[in-house]
Amino acid sequence: MEPRNCGCLLVVGLLLELTFCANGNLDGCLLLIQPTTVVVRRGDPVSVNCTVSGDHVGIGWEASEGSVDMVTDVQFITWSLDKLTEWNIRPRCFGNFLNGTQPFQCEEVLRLIQYKPPDSVSTSAVNHMDLMVEGEEYQLQCEVQNIAPVQNLTVKWYKGGTLENQTSYDDLTKTPVNVSSTLLITPTSADDGAQYSCVAELELGPEGPQPPPSIKSDPLNITVHYKPRITGCLDHVELREGVTLDTLVSCRAKGNPSPMVTWYSVQSEFSSSTPLTRKDSGQYTLIAGNAHGTANHTLEIEVLYKPLITECPNSMEMREGAPLDTVTCRAEGNPSPMVT
Ligand SMILES: *[C@@H]1O[C@H](CO)[C@@H](O)[C@H](O)[C@H]1NC(C)=O
Ligand SMILES: *[C@@H]1O[C@H](CO)[C@@H](O)[C@H](O)[C@H]1NC(C)=O
Ligand SMILES: *[C@@H]1O[C@H](CO)[C@@H](O)[C@H](O)[C@H]1NC(C)=O
Ligand SMILES: *[C@@H]1O[C@H](CO)[C@@H](O)[C@H](O)[C@H]1NC(C)=O
Ligand SMILES: *[C@@H]1O[C@H](CO)[C@@H](O)[C@H](O)[C@H]1NC(C)=O
Ligand SMILES: *[C@@H]1O[C@H](CO)[C@@H](O)[C@H](O)[C@H]1NC(C)=O
Ligand SMILES: *[C@@H]1O[C@H](CO)[C@@H](O)[C@H](O)[C@H]1NC(C)=O
Repeated sequence: MEPRNCGCLLVVGLLLELTFCANGNLDGCLLLIQPTTVVVRRGDPVSVNCTVSGDHVGIGWEASEGSVDMVTDVQFITWSLDKLTEWNIRPRCFGNFLNGTQPFQCEEVLRLIQYKPPDSVSTSAVNHMDLMVEGEEYQLQCEVQNIAPVQNLTVKWYKGGTLENQTSYDDLTKTPVNVSSTLLITPTSADDGAQYSCVAELELGPEGPQPPPSIKSDPLNITVHYKPRITGCLDHVELREGVTLDTLVSCRAKGNPSPMVTWYSVQSEFSSSTPLTRKDSGQYTLIAGNAHGTANHTLEIEVLYKPLITECPNSMEMREGAPLDTVTCRAEGNPSPMVT
């Protein structure tokens, strides 16, 4: 049936066209729907009044479910359903009136917005690439199943608690649809272990549920592989004799997978568990490597040791008045010892 926006009696004469009733609630069409807009979740009950202000010869509701036959002696009539399940229901209230002896009909259409939160919201890495390599580009996908109306949907992407991007949809389909959203990422080492998730939000305006329905996916944990980097290493370090390079704990190599770490001293490998001797002062290079690359750091290590008197006669004959510093005694140490 071609809906006539407002029941209008068109008297078609040569030049005469009388419209008793135009859109909505102007004089003549005395119907008032309350509330004018309803937002209902699919499966929920709905109840709306249509009130008539003035004399009428019958009012009723037409809809593909829950129609109410015309009644004459009432001032309002209620359209209600225990469960809204039909998508294309188009409820409208109609009234029959007389203007003098001229009958006319008019109707008011209920603005009914039906929604359905998604059955599921899930994130995945396209091609199951949730093991990633630093600096390369990957696609994450969020799938939202059976959502309506999709024009009111916003899919938001989060990394941890930070909003990364969002997608909305132009599609005017009223019935449930499946949609997806893609996020392109180029992870860095800092993203190793990051959790990505997406949230499907249905923003249904002031008549809609508050807060707006929002469904979050399980997080997607990503693993990022990256080449080693060395941090916390000084350029010059003093160590006491007898300790090992393993004590340089602040000098660390980080990478994923965990790098192999090797120390070199003058071209040859030097075990980090070898106690240092006073002869080991010099340049050392730390090289860390994994499948994605290597990093190195060179530092000067100075080995400290306590003084040792290396040379001093047990007895000596001296002339009277000769100064003590003509005695040839030597002491060695690092730092250089004070001799008194
Ligand atoms: C009834 O009809 C007359 C013209 O015939 C018009 O002027 C008047 O506004 C109408 N009244 C209503 C309530 O529609
Ligand atoms: C319809 O109107 C009646 C009478 O005023 C009232 O009791 C009822 O709550 C109303 N229903 C709705 C859905 O507004
Ligand atoms: C959405 O996807 C699910 C699972 O693949 C399927 O069962 C359902 O019919 C789809 N819905 C629509 C509206 O295409
Ligand atoms: C963010 O969303 C916009 C619009 O949906 C899209 O064009 C853009 O490519 C997205 N950016 C990323 C990084 O995915
Ligand atoms: C969302 O729903 C409301 C009705 O509840 C509507 O007015 C609005 O235009 C819709 N679309 C968008 C993009 O918000
Ligand atoms: C993702 O990481 C969190 C915390 O790091 C952990 O609790 C959760 O089990 C992980 N999920 C998966 C699927 O590995
Ligand atoms: C140390 O790293 C530099 C660049 O960072 C590189 O040029 C050099 O070849 C590396 N040395 C070793 C021994 O790997």
